[in-house]
Amino acid sequence: MRIDILTLFPDMFASFLQGSLLGLARTSGLLDICVTNIRDFAEGTHRQVDDRPFGGGPGMLLMPGPVVACVENVQDRMAAPGHLVMLTPGGRRLDQQLVEELARKERLVLLCGRYEGFDQRVHDTLHPDEISIGDYVLSGGEVAAMVIVDAVARLVPGVLGDEESARQDSFCGDDRLVEGPQYTRPREFRGRHVPEVLLSGDHGRIATWRHEQAVAATQHRTDTHQPSRSLS
Ligand code: ADE
Repeated sequence: MRIDILTLFPDMFASFLQGSLLGLARTSGLLDICVTNIRDFAEGTHRQVDDRPFGGGPGMLLMPGPVVACVENVQDRMAAPGHLVMLTPGGRRLDQQLVEELARKERLVLLCGRYEGFDQRVHDTLHPDEISIGDYVLSGGEVAAMVIVDAVARLVPGVLGDEESARQDSFCGDDRLVEGPQYTRPREFRGRHVPEVLLSGDHGRIATWRHEQAVAATQHRTDTHQPSRSLS
């Protein structure tokens, strides 16, 4: 899979992309990730990428020229254009289903914003798939892009090494259950014991117990989860 990341802060990605999982996936050729600086497409000696909004208001907006030129340049580097994602708090909310949808693409182009957002003509010219990682405002799309790269990379065949572990993750599978409790050594910690069933060696019983625990954990999460505020 090929992922292009378009950002004004390419340095933010250096250590992230060298991390164990992604670093290995890249050196083994399973993932091809390329970071491009939007500022390289700005004009003038100052390479200006942002300006004040017409009509007044706080902050600065990303100008359409450098952003659109950068996206068009990156798209033209490969035979087929990638699925263009714009990271923005107003986009559709990321969940595991959307991660799976993105992981099915051959190529992703992730466009990170900064400041107060993009000039509207960036949206109108490029028609990106706008995605948010949650109902809160980050200083820019870079952290959100890292979240997407991390979650998508886990689903690329071969990246995890153990495909079963991706299938057993929370929110995976048809029932989309969260994972139940797990235990490792020691068998007893401060008076708390590992459930006997996990030591039984009975794989059928263990699978049944794990499923029951996952159902209970999912129900508990539903019961205690604060629903998002709706407009009134
Ligand atoms: N940029 C700023 N906030 C964001 C969010 N919540 N999700 C995606 N991109 C963002």
